[in-house]
Amino acid sequence: MGLTYFKRFLMEIDLSGRLSDAAQLPSAYRLVPWDEALLEAHADVKYRCFHAEIDAHVFPSLGYPEGCLRLMRDITGGESFLPQATWLLACTDPRNSRVDYCGTIQGLRDGDRRGSVQNFGVVPAHRGRGLGTVLLQRSLEGFRAAGVGRVTLEVTAENQDAQRLYQRLGFRCVRTVYKTAEVAYA
Ligand SMILES: CC(C)(COP(=O)(O)OP(=O)(O)OC[C@H]1O[C@@H](n2cnc3c(N)ncnc32)[C@H](O)[C@@H]1OP(=O)(O)O)[C@@H](O)C(=O)NCCC(=O)NCCS
Repeated sequence: MGLTYFKRFLMEIDLSGRLSDAAQLPSAYRLVPWDEALLEAHADVKYRCFHAEIDAHVFPSLGYPEGCLRLMRDITGGESFLPQATWLLACTDPRNSRVDYCGTIQGLRDGDRRGSVQNFGVVPAHRGRGLGTVLLQRSLEGFRAAGVGRVTLEVTAENQDAQRLYQRLGFRCVRTVYKTAEVAYA
């Protein structure tokens, strides 16, 4: 094992301005508001979104189901948890009405008027359909409704897909940060 550094960008959006126009969900999908009974579903989606991504190296908890469950418990059990900014994305299969959860986002209130986005993801089979855009927009609406004026998030420099989405919605890079993590050498 050894220590390595991951370059990350702190990005921020000012919610006092006009937000980008809300995109529409394709018909099979719906957004599900936070409910404690959905904690395990959020954790499962988080694992499916992140375990094969660079962020599972930056935050090893994202790489295994129990780690994702613990993260969800930590996030939702703290005083700063913001239910209004926390959403699950559901997809209903029209052939058998089976529901599959396929996206997750959580919000924290960092101070009186500040918030942060945590662990935003869409599972691989559902990406590239505009779902991530809708999920993040809905979360930002929740932050604003809760009186939050500025929302930040951190994104790994290599993760250019996510950065394009954030920039499209109005996030701007405000700082470069470095996160240390233990990695196993091959
Ligand atoms: C980042 C992430 C959440 C984006 O989710 P997504 O659902 O694919 O996002 P969208 O579909 O809204 O946008 C992705 C792309 O699809 C395009 N798109 C949107 N609707 C589309 C449609 N109907 N048809 C085709 N393409 C479409 C978007 O324009 C965007 O293109 P771009 O990358 O060239 O800008 C997803 O890639 C993910 O979960 N990654 C792994 C976890 C992660 O890294 N999370 C971020 C941590 S900071």
